[in-house]
Amino acid sequence: MKRVRKAVFPVAGLGTRVLPATKTIPKEMLTVVDRPVLQHAVEEAREAGIEHFVFVTGRGKQTIEDHFDMSYELEDTLQKRGKLKEYEALMADLPAAGATSFTRQQAPLGLGHAVWCARDIVGDEPFAVILPDMITLPGARKTRCLAQCLDAYAKHGGNIIAVEEVPHEDTHIYGVVSVSQDFGATFQIGGMVEKPAKGTAPSNLIISGRYVLEPQIFDILEKIEKGAGGEIQLTDGMKKLSETQEFFGVRFDGRTCDTGSKLGFLMANVHFALERADMAPAFKAELKKLLGSL
Ligand code: UTP
Repeated sequence: MKRVRKAVFPVAGLGTRVLPATKTIPKEMLTVVDRPVLQHAVEEAREAGIEHFVFVTGRGKQTIEDHFDMSYELEDTLQKRGKLKEYEALMADLPAAGATSFTRQQAPLGLGHAVWCARDIVGDEPFAVILPDMITLPGARKTRCLAQCLDAYAKHGGNIIAVEEVPHEDTHIYGVVSVSQDFGATFQIGGMVEKPAKGTAPSNLIISGRYVLEPQIFDILEKIEKGAGGEIQLTDGMKKLSETQEFFGVRFDGRTCDTGSKLGFLMANVHFALERADMAPAFKAELKKLLGSL
């Protein structure tokens, strides 16, 4: 079994659900507590042992590339002013030279198309996909979602999809999987469908934004027809791949926040602030005052 070294971050979407914030700022650069959403996702990948970060970007997303580069003037000023803690924190966050790649999707034709755009950079090896607008916090198993997916990959091989439960009446807006053999924290996937019509979903387990995929997915994505919403859907590609390869689901035991919606973005800030030892006490005190006045 090959090691999973690379993660693809599709960041070319338009972020229409969080307009007007995303008119000029990529939604992945909106801030949760004190860092861009995308940085939370990159930290999760780093913690899971990913070595190379592949960003599929689009027009107007240049700040993403700059964020993962040095900022000489800022760093020089911080050092000269003795702000060494801030300087060292920036340096610690910086990916190693050569550990990032950027490619462009050119037109937002769908998640499946965005992943396909990374084919030459990924090459012939298994890889992770992280939807960076979904950001995660550890649960009882103390690791974030991608680390749990990579554990499942080491155990089962094949292809891995992280899932979470939603109320049955909400399944029509997500990709949904069904369970064929259940092992508890993981399970063998029987089938999958993107945005099933109301009342037809095979379960309430939705695909939640972390994947480990074998490289054969690229040949499939190259040929696949447009699906739900007129977009090239990753779920349709995975469904085709599942005819010849196994897929396993991971029930992530932590919290996933969807920063791609306005309410989800607000709640992400609350949950992530409450997890920060340096902020939680003061933030909790403010929240208590606020809740008392509602
Ligand atoms: P979303 O559907 O959440 O992103 O895709 P979006 O299209 O930006 O959202 P709305 O509905 O307009 O608000 C999940 C991830 O896939 C990327 C997005 O950037 C996001 O990180 N994506 C989506 C692409 O890179 N390209 C696409 O064509 C579509």
